[in-house]
Amino acid sequence: MASNILSSLLLLIILVCSEANAGNFYQDFDLSWGSGRAKIYGGGQLLSLSLDKISGSGFQSKKEYLFGRIDMQLKLVAGNSAGTVTAYYLSSQGPTHDEIDFEFLGNATGEPYTLHTNVFTQGKGNREQQFHLWFDPTKNFHTYSIIWNLQHIVFLADNTPIRVFKNSESKGIPYPKNQPMRIYSSLWNADDWATRGGLVKTDWSRAPFTAYYRNFNAQTGGSKGAWQNQELDAYSWRRLRWVQKNFMIYNYCTDYRRFPHGFPAECRQ
Ligand SMILES: *[C@@H]1O[C@H](CO)[C@@H](O)[C@H](O)[C@H]1NC(C)=O
Repeated sequence: MASNILSSLLLLIILVCSEANAGNFYQDFDLSWGSGRAKIYGGGQLLSLSLDKISGSGFQSKKEYLFGRIDMQLKLVAGNSAGTVTAYYLSSQGPTHDEIDFEFLGNATGEPYTLHTNVFTQGKGNREQQFHLWFDPTKNFHTYSIIWNLQHIVFLADNTPIRVFKNSESKGIPYPKNQPMRIYSSLWNADDWATRGGLVKTDWSRAPFTAYYRNFNAQTGGSKGAWQNQELDAYSWRRLRWVQKNFMIYNYCTDYRRFPHGFPAECRQ
């Protein structure tokens, strides 16, 4: 009995303390680029970016974040999306900025998108990992998340970890921990490199190209969220290995040609 009361009390405390706030695009974001090609609908519940021959478009968060769990649902450009890039990332400012990137590289109809990821610390990136996805990211909304705490940065798709960037400060690698980041997204044309290395061009007869966003959620600060866990659990590690084994198509940490004199220190772990 007493323990029942105690556990209800604990639950109440957890509910009250968690700052998880379901987002509203009007409140949380500014449409920052592409006049009229970025739109917010449904009282703030849905946002779309589009790209036509003249311009792409983009948005950015009003707030800056220093650690947290950031979730967003995206539905990517459908059909022939070759040459288009939908970037969704966190970044601080300036020449020594930190950055955590998702970039979705479009493809010809029926061919898989490439999810390109990167981590910049103190202005230095060159940490690319690329994936194909185990679902069609254009058919439905899927959730893409960043968990960022002092121990690691975890990239997730539908709650499955696809990449972990560990804090390797002990090996002399700078780790993002001092510079707050804004959330940015943009849809633009990159047919000089994005699809099959630039071989497949954008089909402008299909324009405008449109990507959709909903259910933004940011857990930060004092909330007692699972994102603050300093270790992934055993199930998450299994999922991560499954993704890396079956869906990873590029990993800078195994690219011998690029690093003939040895891999970056964070690769050895
Ligand atoms: C596009 O499809 C080709 C063929 O399936 C694949 O090799 C490539 O990784 C896909 N993605 C991009 C962005 O080119």
